[in-house]
Parts: sequence; structure tokens; C-alpha cells
Amino acid sequence: MEGGPGSGKGTQCIKIVETFGFKHLSAGDLLRREMVSNSEYGSMILNTIKEGRIVPSEVTVKLILKEMESSDNHKFLIDGFPRSEENRIAFEKISGAEPDVVLFFDCPEDVMVKRVLSRNQGRIDDNIDTIKKRLKVFEALNLPVIDYYAKKGKVHRINAVGTVDEIFEQVRPVFKACEQKALNRS
Ligand code: ADP
Ligand code: C5P
Ligand code: MG
Repeated sequence: MEGGPGSGKGTQCIKIVETFGFKHLSAGDLLRREMVSNSEYGSMILNTIKEGRIVPSEVTVKLILKEMESSDNHKFLIDGFPRSEENRIAFEKISGAEPDVVLFFDCPEDVMVKRVLSRNQGRIDDNIDTIKKRLKVFEALNLPVIDYYAKKGKVHRINAVGTVDEIFEQVRPVFKACEQKALNRS
């Protein structure tokens, strides 16, 4: 799952999990959990998130792989990762795996800003100064990752403007097709 801050990734992930039974792994949630867990990386993660920058890949990849290894599910929905080419290359190198499908939530900046500012989850990065930085990081570091997967024919672009249900009706057929493909293989 790719898309800028507030494009609705987490919201759609909940619906995808309900409907298609994936294990949801949000890189941002894992980093926030690590941040408050007395980890040696706690203050580094806090400062990085506050500045809207990307946490070093080795830290994030380790957290994601730990969750994957301890899950009895084998279908993973990874949200907010890879956020940079460095993220992508580190994950591929360490895990030897690549996503089957990449969803890109395409959302205008003004809509993303409005959603983030009304998210109300007490996040230290949901303020206008950090949002501006996150949008710049998204353009500079995340868009190249989406281009990379697009060249491999893996990207499904979702128009992220509309109601939650309207957006899910664009998401649903992508996962339906994945289910069908898996059935055909078995
Ligand atoms: P992301 O994970 O991409 O940062 P979220 O799913 O957390 O985005 O959504 C950001 C905020 O916008 C949340 O408060 C969420 O409830 C709200 N939101 C999500 N999807 C929509 C939508 N389609 N229309 C209006 N608000 C939305
Ligand atoms: O995806 P989410 O909005 O929860 O991400 C919040 C922050 O977590 C990002 O702005 C970034 O600072 C950090 N993050 C990261 N690397 C990722 C995902 C998130 O550093 N792959
Ligand atoms: Mg999110």
C-alpha cells in the first residue's frame, strides 16, 4: 500500500483485512510501537517521525520481518512501506521477497492535508509543519518506488478521493483478482 500522508491507506487496510483476511502490517504503527517500548531506537524514531523523515531501513525491515515470522497468516498487507528506494532494496535483500501487487492511493495534496489535520489521534507528526515536510519526502523518496513497481506492471492506481466505501469498490476487484490467481495456482 503506497500513498501520501492522509491518502487513506490505514482506513482501507481495515476493510481489506475484514474482506480478504490479510495480516495488516503498518510500518508507521510498528515504528510508533517500537518508539514507546523502551527500545534503544526510541528517541531516534521519535525525532525522525517528528521531522517527517524516513527511519533507517534496517530498523523498519527488522520490525516488519519479526511480525511476519510470528504470524500464522501467510498473506501480508504491508502499509506505508517501502517508503524509499533504500527501504525497498533493504527489504528485498534481507527477505528475498517482493510484493505481488502494489496499490497506490492517488490523492491531491489539499485533501491529504485536510484529512491529516482532522485525524485526531494525537500523533506528533499530524501538524502543518511536519505535514509539509512529509509531503516533500513523499515526492522525493516515495514516488520513485511507485515508478519502480509501475515499470514492473505491479501498480494499481486508486483514486483516493471519495467516500471510504467508494474507494473500497476500486480496491475490492484488485484483491478479488489476486484470490482468483491464487485459486488457479492451487
Ligand atoms: P493514511 O494511513 O494514508 O495516512 P488514514 O487512513 O489514517 O490515512 O486516513 C487519514 C484520515 O482521513 C483519518 O482521520 C481517516 O478517518 C480519514 N479518511 C480516510 N479515508 C477517508 C475518505 N475516503 N474520506 C474522508 N476521510 C477519510
Ligand atoms: O505511514 P505513517 O503515516 O504512519 O508514517 C508515519 C511516519 O513514520 C512517517 O512520516 C515516517 O517518519 C515514519 N515511517 C518511516 N518509514 C516507513 C514508514 C513510516 O520512517 N517505511
Ligand atoms: Mg496510516
